Amino acid sequence: MCGIVGFIGKKQAAPIILDGLSRLEYRGYDSAGMAIADGNTIRVVKAVGRLDILVEMTHNGETMKGTAGIGHTRWATHGQPTDVNAHPHTNVSGTITVVHNGIIENYLPLRKMLQSRGYEFKSETDTEVVPQLIDYYYKGDPLEAIQKTLHRIEGSYSLGILFADRPGELYAARKSSPLICAVSDDGAFIASDVPALLKYSRSVYYIGEEEIAKLTEREISFYDVDGVETEKTPTEIKWDSSAAEKGGYEFFMLKEIYEEPRTVRETLNPRIRDSRVEIEELGMSDEEIKAVRCLHIVACGSAYHAGMTSRYVFEGMARLPVDVDIASEFRYRNPILDPSDLVIVISQSGETADTLEALRVAKSKGCTVLAIVNVVGSSIAREADRVMYTWAGPEISVATTKAYSAQLIALYLLSIKFASARGVISDAEAGELLEELKKLPDQIELMLGSREKIQRFANRYVAARDVFFIGRGIDYAISLEGSLKLKEISYIHSEAYAAGELKHGTISLIEQGTLVAAVATQKELYQKIISNIVEVRSRGAFVLAVTNVGNSEIEKVADYVIYIPETNPYFTNSLAIIPLQLFGYYVSLGKGFDVDHPRNLAKSVTVE
Ligand code: AGP
Repeated sequence: MCGIVGFIGKKQAAPIILDGLSRLEYRGYDSAGMAIADGNTIRVVKAVGRLDILVEMTHNGETMKGTAGIGHTRWATHGQPTDVNAHPHTNVSGTITVVHNGIIENYLPLRKMLQSRGYEFKSETDTEVVPQLIDYYYKGDPLEAIQKTLHRIEGSYSLGILFADRPGELYAARKSSPLICAVSDDGAFIASDVPALLKYSRSVYYIGEEEIAKLTEREISFYDVDGVETEKTPTEIKWDSSAAEKGGYEFFMLKEIYEEPRTVRETLNPRIRDSRVEIEELGMSDEEIKAVRCLHIVACGSAYHAGMTSRYVFEGMARLPVDVDIASEFRYRNPILDPSDLVIVISQSGETADTLEALRVAKSKGCTVLAIVNVVGSSIAREADRVMYTWAGPEISVATTKAYSAQLIALYLLSIKFASARGVISDAEAGELLEELKKLPDQIELMLGSREKIQRFANRYVAARDVFFIGRGIDYAISLEGSLKLKEISYIHSEAYAAGELKHGTISLIEQGTLVAAVATQKELYQKIISNIVEVRSRGAFVLAVTNVGNSEIEKVADYVIYIPETNPYFTNSLAIIPLQLFGYYVSLGKGFDVDHPRNLAKSVTVE
């Protein structure tokens, strides 16, 4: 996700900001920029591409004089990665300048309101409404204008703000998007994360929810969103800088698992309005949706597993035939497609070669292609007819977790949209399903609470040779992903099987002590999966069951049970996958492996 750095003090700001941004590069970005205040003049420089371009443009900041400034590395969400869309953004007169991390969910109505009052916009971003709205409310009191603006915007934000007519002041604010600040002998700083300011101070303030900070070169004061001043105690940072990039986590994978509640919220919330699904980027009317005869879902690896889950959801909820295929197979089998079919390709990186080629095959046969992608402006995003982004932020660890969870959310939303448009579910039923989806972030948070329990269980299996994952229906799709998570980072052989299929061969591999993870979240299949558990246990297997809270019956047949909170059966993958992700992580950790960089694997497979 984006990186923010700000400084106000005695030294030249630009070199300090560039150095700070370079320590946030791990967060992933596609453009960078900064604004430096020199007296009552604010100069902005920004460019698409790596930070080095900005360093070169400004001779490492030498050409931008001034002792106050804000800088930004942008991970695009709204608007392609371009110079114009890069931050900072300003009001029309250039007297108010802002950098932003997060998503302004109601930016479209705000933009329309401001345009109706004569405000002109230059970029496609959601962020540009912020300096314009501050300008709209600004009557000479920065705090008042910021407070009024924060009351109007919805979504998540961490903000750095400069006012040309307030040269000795720098403002910051945050909601659901981390922002810290610190003060030292050199001046005062804001940053998205600790590494950017660790060299100046180990004593940092975490700006609170809907809190505003006012920085001068000597001090920082804090206010709530109603302007009431608040006291804060600094936190002493004990980490070294490399650990700090991971926010104190040992590996990015665990950090990204812990980001899943946020990424589910950020993928979900902007697409729910008045209890209805609004997916502007789909660009299809209900009539056009009804005309879709068949869905073809194509992807690789975990993205394919998300697609496998969605087949049960689309077919169950929307009664629409769905074909799911691995991209490397789809692209060579001369698939039979009709122009009335919709092809959905799923990709975190947006650069997977097989998936990109599958997209081209589908387009060559006259199909509309919708891409569900995490990286804005990636090849798949650019070549698809429509793009639905999974605003998970950059995913660093090779083993996907938060992006996979965000893909599930995107697919659930599409299923509800299609089921509503096809008249299979009523508005009331759609509303109930959306209420269930809104509970998922807190329920995932709850699942994360069992981390230690899962770590203890995982430590028993670091020496395992074979592990099997079994399930029926959506639980089979969950098993596919659970198995991949384990094998790709622990190098333990693992297979996922449709539980009903075991007896047709694979059950011969079950020996005394073989671990079998049985996923049992589909109530109408409980008895069937219990029979399969009995089958494997009678052959010596040790059975870990993942099931719904309340299904204590399963304790009679399974050796170890992990319960997930109650949710709609269509959505259980979002919860059941959490303990399986943690299991894979802790087995790999227990084996002493570099969890984020497993052997033979790359984060994006751009070759066939
Ligand atoms: C998942 O943990 C793996 N890293 C891998 O299977 C990945 O899902 C697959 O390569 C597809 O990548 P994409 O989503 O970027 O297209």
